Amino acid sequence: MNTSRSIIIDTDPGQDDAVAIFLALASDELQVLGITVVAGNVPLELTARNARIVCDLGGRPDIPILAGCDRPLLRPLVTAEDVHGNTGLDGVEIYDPDIQLRDQHAVDFIIETLRSQPSESVTLCPLGPLTNIAVAFKLAPDICARVAEIVLMGGAYFAVGNVTPAAEFNIYVDPEAADIVFRSGVPLTVLPLDATHHVLSNKPRLDALRAIGNRTGQAIADLTSFYERFDRRKYGSEGAPLHDPCVIAYLLKPEIFESRFVNVEIETSSELTRGMTVADWWGVTDRQPNATFAGGADADVFFELLTCKIANLP
Ligand code: BDR
Ligand code: CA
Repeated sequence: MNTSRSIIIDTDPGQDDAVAIFLALASDELQVLGITVVAGNVPLELTARNARIVCDLGGRPDIPILAGCDRPLLRPLVTAEDVHGNTGLDGVEIYDPDIQLRDQHAVDFIIETLRSQPSESVTLCPLGPLTNIAVAFKLAPDICARVAEIVLMGGAYFAVGNVTPAAEFNIYVDPEAADIVFRSGVPLTVLPLDATHHVLSNKPRLDALRAIGNRTGQAIADLTSFYERFDRRKYGSEGAPLHDPCVIAYLLKPEIFESRFVNVEIETSSELTRGMTVADWWGVTDRQPNATFAGGADADVFFELLTCKIANLP
């Protein structure tokens, strides 16, 4: 009997997205039905190419990769080359792999997959702006009831923001899309900066990944070493937060994270606080809880899991 959980990874790679994809590909517990790509860290053309490189390095040419929306619902695209480099995947060699994109729009793939797979069997794992997911929900509202759950990286409450003083990047880039997803009624788990800022790289952790002796362990160390520079400069921290891999780690070992089931709403109208995730952590309103919102993480257990799983890849 196949007991693995079926997932679709919606992503804008990104070094930390790449690590998340590797972790998913390395885990028998997860069956990756497809990787849907969105514009975010860098424009869509680059995030799509980066997803192809990641699957090539991971030795998985069989995974469908589909390009989706090239801009947010209502706003111009904001990118993050300052964090991820001009390629979005600085730190490893950039090349044009043999793996090609599937000839289907990511949104159509999401809709078709949710309609064709058994109801409540597919988990969506968004690692970037929520544009593809929101468009799918708007075009095909029937699929909302068929989603098992959404486990996403985005937002912040105590950590407030990383791209503005009030907002985290993924939510800030497309707040209207986030608002649609957070109001969708689909069971939602959120890995915000409050959790991901605990999951920091450091030298022993990267050395352990290199010591596996495979190309993906080496690639994760190289990608993270590039990406660390930004956080070291900005926060004075020892390393970089591995934001997006927290989503996959949550699927594998939810006990790594502490969380609360609370109401989370998205600020869409204020320019000052655009994309803020207003989480009722203390239960001071009568707004209905709609999300399991993580507030902390055990980094040692996370890195043990990552290192152990990556040994399964080429
Ligand atoms: C999120 O923004 C992106 O830069 C990362 O890939 C991650 O998904 C962190 O705020
Ligand atoms: Ca991302």
